[in-house]
Amino acid sequence: MSTATLPVIDLDVFLSQPQQSDAVVRECQKAADALITYGALLLHDSRVSEQDNSAFLDLLEDYFNQPEPELRKDERPELGYQVGVTLENTEKPKCAVDEPCLNVIARLDPAERPLDITAHQPDPKCRFFWKMSQKPPYETQFAALNAPNVVPESDDIKERWEPTMEKWGKSMKDAVENLCEMAAIGLGLPRETFKEAGKYGPHLLAPTASDLRKYNKKDSILAGFHTDLNFLTIHGRSRYPGLHIWARNTGKRIPVKFPPTGRYLLVQAGKQLEHLSGGLIKAGFHEVVVNESTVETIERRREEFPDRPLIRISSTFFWHLSSDYDLAPIPSLASRARTVRSAAMKAGISEQDDVIYESMKVGQQVQNELRHIALMA
Ligand SMILES: [Fe+2]
Repeated sequence: MSTATLPVIDLDVFLSQPQQSDAVVRECQKAADALITYGALLLHDSRVSEQDNSAFLDLLEDYFNQPEPELRKDERPELGYQVGVTLENTEKPKCAVDEPCLNVIARLDPAERPLDITAHQPDPKCRFFWKMSQKPPYETQFAALNAPNVVPESDDIKERWEPTMEKWGKSMKDAVENLCEMAAIGLGLPRETFKEAGKYGPHLLAPTASDLRKYNKKDSILAGFHTDLNFLTIHGRSRYPGLHIWARNTGKRIPVKFPPTGRYLLVQAGKQLEHLSGGLIKAGFHEVVVNESTVETIERRREEFPDRPLIRISSTFFWHLSSDYDLAPIPSLASRARTVRSAAMKAGISEQDDVIYESMKVGQQVQNELRHIALMA
């Protein structure tokens, strides 16, 4: 497996110096290049508090440790599970049945391929969607994607829920919105281009939970190989390793490792950014599995925290473009995408099949993707 590391982008530099300064221009360029080359980066942000992440992880471990009937009360299938809880074995990794995606796997060196998802049934992971959006000042065409939040009922959890979710969610949202500004500048666009396009996006704090009492064998798939349908996904530290990402232009599987200390977040590009950039930036493939380090961590936590539930929580936030935004490739980026693509072909690097990014509303794109992964009829 690859030991490549991801570029680190310093948000502190961006926030503390004038936009025209060399240091900021350089950092923005680095952010854009990281997204083009890797589809992912590590973000350093001194404002982020590890304690907030920890309180969030504790809360979600306690929540998913409840009996199933209690969790079922928070399901909203009629809203495509876009708020509340999704229990395990509901969501299918789209890639298992999707031809372009299977082609991506086929093109990878066998040593760098994901765990085999062709026989894999729906993912054995649960999830909670907590919306962190601002109500649009106009009538939206996509009401189901903008439904109100679900607060769990049990007394112990109810009290902590909203403040903990909001606090940690806001840290990640602020960080990813600043990165949107950096990426826009680095791509030669006005600073607010992406941030404004997502001002009323149905952003989601979206932790997943994997029951490590049930799924603890090496090479268990917790979430099969896929890309995210939103614009950018940002993650805080998880207590258990197991997230692998594929860097677009390297074809290498990279096990995500955060620097051991310090305030870092991981960011990955999603489908909306791919679409808007005409394929200049590709949505990043990833999987969550039980690998050797996961197994070691399970053993260690079993001893160190015998009273805590053995549940792997991912600290994930999906940042979306606004549902009513017209999604079409930005011409300057699309033209650069064509240049990058023909350079890659000349160099003999086989890229993904040529994709046509049709114009549509963002809400339409989301609904198309949800149908694919069996969350919407
Ligand atoms: Fe994902």
